[in-house]
Amino acid sequence: MNAPTVAQIPPGIVNLEDHARHAHTVLDANAWAYFSGGAGDEITLRANRSAWDTRQLYPRVLQPLAGGHTRITLLGRALAHPILLAPVAFQRMAHPDGELASAYAAAALGAGMVLSTNSSIAIEKIAATALNESARGPFWFQLYLQDNRAHTLALVQRAELAGCDALVLTVDGPTDGARDRQRRAGFRLPSGVSAVHLADFRPMPAEPLHPGQSALFDGLLAHAPTWDDVAWLQTQTRLPVLLKGILHPADARQAAALGLAGIIVSNHGGRTLDTAPATAAVLPRIKDAVGDLPVLVDGGIRRGTDVLKAVALGASAVLIGRPYVYGLANAGAVGVAHVLRLLRDELEIAMALCGCQTLDQASPALLFEG
Ligand code: FNR
Repeated sequence: MNAPTVAQIPPGIVNLEDHARHAHTVLDANAWAYFSGGAGDEITLRANRSAWDTRQLYPRVLQPLAGGHTRITLLGRALAHPILLAPVAFQRMAHPDGELASAYAAAALGAGMVLSTNSSIAIEKIAATALNESARGPFWFQLYLQDNRAHTLALVQRAELAGCDALVLTVDGPTDGARDRQRRAGFRLPSGVSAVHLADFRPMPAEPLHPGQSALFDGLLAHAPTWDDVAWLQTQTRLPVLLKGILHPADARQAAALGLAGIIVSNHGGRTLDTAPATAAVLPRIKDAVGDLPVLVDGGIRRGTDVLKAVALGASAVLIGRPYVYGLANAGAVGVAHVLRLLRDELEIAMALCGCQTLDQASPALLFEG
């Protein structure tokens, strides 16, 4: 597999929001509605951002800083920094190199990459790129449980064979949220972009609905996954399994009791249940509920200060979604690498200005409680 196309960062882009603004001028209305939109009135989408903004860092001065670094250990693996690329579907809609470019940039920058079930490039091609770099971060496969266990198992086996380090089971989207922005834009997948991993799966024949039955509950969700399916999945794979899309401490405790490898606090970037709480707001409760179990967080992380706040609130690492897709739209792999570099540089600056030499010094005391 050849390296992805090399492009230049457009002038004037110095932070992640600049990437977003520029991507708006690059992507067509269809793709912009898909990547940027949230569910309903986008209250959760905005809350994710404002929850990081309103938390204030409480700096200490004259702390020893020499030799400081952003290194962490995650699931037994030493990482250069705590930033991963979240699973985002259909990345070839942002750039022809799609997920391949994202994986390439992540591996080069030592970032983790979580590949979506709904990837527009096959996992085997991505793995060849993602696993080749010695300083790479973790390469995880994001799994959606299929309505047919044989299909789910086929995906799990593909991920194992491709060399993934873990599975990320996303549990917050039994159905899509009410995506008004997408519907207004008349969203459709462009020809040539599809969920390639699902191409060979035939949908289960739908039972005819009786009058009064719900097309959602009795149709689409007739085989919606439950905790029993999570327990089943654990018996079917040798890979560690993390759950993505946890907001409630009771669910976090249940995940811990099942012996899952970690939790990703996420509201799907505000794309599923609108008015669900911001991830920054619930993170401390989840951490309290599960103790030492690794807890990661995503949603609205756009600044190095956000990453530091997340770690101070108990996150082992963070994921970013839209920002790297905007980098991808703007400049392919170089754009994704630029986004990762900017965020990591900002994290180092934030740590230094807070008097934090290492991330294990970041605790709730780093946040100002008015
Ligand atoms: C997503 N997300 C997502 N999550 C997942 O588990 N599987 C998927 O296929 C997708 N697809 C997807 C598409 C798009 C366009 C977006 C924006 C998001 C959710 C994603 O992994 C992550 O939780 C959020 O994107 C994090 O929020 P930010 O960083 O985008 O604010």
